[in-house]
Parts: sequence; C-alpha cells; structure tokens
Amino acid sequence: MNVCVIGTGYVGLVTGATFADLGNDVICVDKDESKIERLKRAEMPIYEPGLEEIVRRNLDEGRISFTTDIAEGVKRSLVIFIAVGTPPKDNGETDLSQVEAVAKEIAHHMDSYKIVVNKSTVPVGTGDFVRRVIEQNRRRQVDFDVVSNPEFLKEGSAVYDSMHPDRIVIGAPSQHVAMALLELYAPLEVPMLITDVESAEMIKYASNAFLATKISFINMIANVCEKAGADVMLVAKGMGYDRRIGPEFLQAGLGFGGSCFPKDTLSLRHVTRQLGEDSSLLDAVLNINEDRVPRFIRRIEQRLGEIAGKTFAILGLAFKPNTDDLREAKSLEIIRLLQEKGGKIRAYDPVAMDNAKQILKDVTFCKSAYEAAEQADAVVIVTDWNEFKLLNLEKLRDKVRQPLLFDGRNIYQPERVRKYGFEYFSIGRP
Ligand code: UDX
Repeated sequence: MNVCVIGTGYVGLVTGATFADLGNDVICVDKDESKIERLKRAEMPIYEPGLEEIVRRNLDEGRISFTTDIAEGVKRSLVIFIAVGTPPKDNGETDLSQVEAVAKEIAHHMDSYKIVVNKSTVPVGTGDFVRRVIEQNRRRQVDFDVVSNPEFLKEGSAVYDSMHPDRIVIGAPSQHVAMALLELYAPLEVPMLITDVESAEMIKYASNAFLATKISFINMIANVCEKAGADVMLVAKGMGYDRRIGPEFLQAGLGFGGSCFPKDTLSLRHVTRQLGEDSSLLDAVLNINEDRVPRFIRRIEQRLGEIAGKTFAILGLAFKPNTDDLREAKSLEIIRLLQEKGGKIRAYDPVAMDNAKQILKDVTFCKSAYEAAEQADAVVIVTDWNEFKLLNLEKLRDKVRQPLLFDGRNIYQPERVRKYGFEYFSIGRP
C-alpha cells in the first residue's frame, strides 16, 4: 500500500519505518529541510534503539523515502498519517495548530480519494475538526475519510513497541474504511479493535491518564511508606501479583516526565472541565507528580543542610532510560531548584549530553558517572539507566567529598550501597 506519514518526530518516523518494514511504500514528509536531508542519509534526528538499522535497510531497499514536498506525499498515497506535534498551551489545552496546518495542506493537494489518519495524540473531537478543515479547504470535490489510529509506543523501545503492540485501535466512520487500516496492520498479528472516531481518541487519553494515575498512586503510597516504615518496592511487588492490578507502572520515584503523560493528563483535565465534569482525580494525579521533585529536594536539604556552595553529581538527564529526550525531564527541575539555592552541578548522562548542553547553563558536563562524582557533596540518581545500576560503588565513593547517595529511582539495594560506606536515601523505603 502507498502510505504517507507527515511529521518525522518519534511517532511519525517510527510509524513510517515500521510500515516500510512491513512491505509498504512509505513517503515521510517534514517541513524541516535539514532533518529530511539527514534522514535521506539514514542519520537519525533522535536516539532510539534499532531505528537507524530499520530506516537504513528500507532506504536501501527503496521502500521508504523522505521529502519536504507534502504535495508529492499526498498525491502518491492512499493512506495519509498525521503525526505532527500537539504541544500544550499554558492552560493545558492541546495546541492543534500544526494538525490544522497539515489538514489544510492535505486538502489543497488531494486529487483522489484519501484516508486521513490522526496518529498524533489529540483530544476527543479532533477527528471531526480535521474533517471540517479538509472539507472547507478542498480544491477539488474528491472524497476522503478521517480515521483515528492512536499510537501507544514508548520512547526507548519505540521500534519494538510499534512492531509488537498490545493492540491496534482504529476509530473509523465505517467498517469499510477501517478495513484499509486493518489490512495495513494485519502482518503484525495482534488484537485490533474497531471503534467510532471519538472512542478511539478517548482510548488513547484514558490509557495514558490511567498509567499516570498508577504512577502517582504508587508515589503517594511511597510517601506514606516513608512515614510508616514500610518498603514501597515490596508493597508494589505484592500489589503487582494481583492480576487485576499488574506489576507494571508501579515504580515509585521522581514521577512521570516525557512528552506524553504530563501533557496528555493536562489535556484530558482541560477537556473534562470544559465538558463540565469533575476533574478532581486528574487534579490529584498532577498535584502528586508536581510535588515529587520539591519533596526530593526537601529530603536532600534535611540531610545536607544548606544547598549553597555544595556540589551535586547528577546521574541521568534524559526523562527516562534509552532515550536522549529531555522533554519534561525531572533532571531539569532538580538542577534548576538546586542552582536557585546556590548548588553547583556536575552532570552525566549516557546519551542525552548533547541535548542537555543546549538547554542547561552553568553545569559542568562530565564524561562518566565517576568524573561527575569528583568532590561531590552528594550523588543524585535521576534516571534509571542500566549503566548506573552496575556502577563500581567503591570507586564512586573514593571520588566524592561526602558519601551521600540520593536515589530518585530506587535502583540499588539499600544494604549493598551502605556496605560501601554510603549514606543512602531512596524513595518510599525505610
Ligand atoms: C508513554 C506511554 O507509555 C506510551 O504508551 C505513550 O504512547 C506515550 O507515553 P513514554 O512517555 O515514552 O510513553 O514513557 P514511559 O515509559 O511510559 O514513561 C513515562 C514516564 O513515567 C517516565 O518519566 C518514567 O520515568 C515514569 N514512570 C514510568 C515512573 O515513574 N514509574 C513507572 O512505574 C513507569
């Protein structure tokens, strides 16, 4: 099938690469010329395990191409995916201006029947909005349908997730239209659910908000565990064995960051309030998440006293492991708060250093965790990279000025760290 994907961010690029790998003819469109030039040479704009290989292979075999010419992409394809950014506005509402601009372009260049698919995470009602924009801007009276096909991939395992999704959700105006998408996904052999457009849009928001709720829930329990002398890791394990609860997304820590959970939960809250419904559950999820870093900093201050003049080794800058993405990363908030209080920062991340250098000021960027720890008054684990789980703690202790370890992701066994002479503080553990 001839497929066009508009937007080469995480979702667009991975989606395009996956469809190409499944044997389709894929044309990826982006207005960023330098990005397209790099992609033509199989140079990835993002760090994502396995992505370069799959793009390179499909470029070599002629199944994927990259262009800035949206007209070419639209004319050549039956199915057109919109995978552009949907950032939040200040009030939490989703900014649909990029989606709208792309819908207008599609409308201008449509010369035969098209299936326009919303892949970006968008509020319920956006399918209808896109349909109206295309209707109003069409230059020829050609037919089209608008479908919602939300993406559930996670950064860091995006290629794997898009090849092995738990389910495919297709929100279509009719069975007939849904069939075209079914055909596209059939080789994956995974459960597929066909719904109306609005329900598909809600499935995406409800799923992300539910996972965010799970994280805030366990973080709230971690706060209680700290006071009650319980261990949140054991509590989560015990809860997770219950199949109705499940073990995933019960990792207590510094809370959720990244480009999806904070923005999507805010957006769902906005929609909930706009429709006149009670958003207090989502309010609590967001409030708990917003207090994770301030609470962690209070803990550091309680032990260390004045932050001013102290040096902190920050291990991990990416919002989670296996990505170089710093969007809504807890590292940024931690570093900002420590710097505001006069702390000095030495930082290290296995892959996010280049991105971090463009955002962070007055930070000493180091080549390893050990270099970051040199003369530090405290080591602070912010991202749970595997590399940090395997650190030589004896070597680390020899570098620091004070053997204080604040672990925001509970990556160590307390007894093990203490054996190496560290005073160890983690989340929700006695
Ligand atoms: C998420 C959804 O998982 C994915 O389905 C959707 O398509 C996009 O949003 P992503 O943001 O890439 O994916 O990362 P995810 O692995 O879900 O983690 C999100 C945040 O939650 C990270 O900051 C992570 O550290 C945090 N998290 C996750 C926890 O604090 N505890 C957990 O148990 C799990």
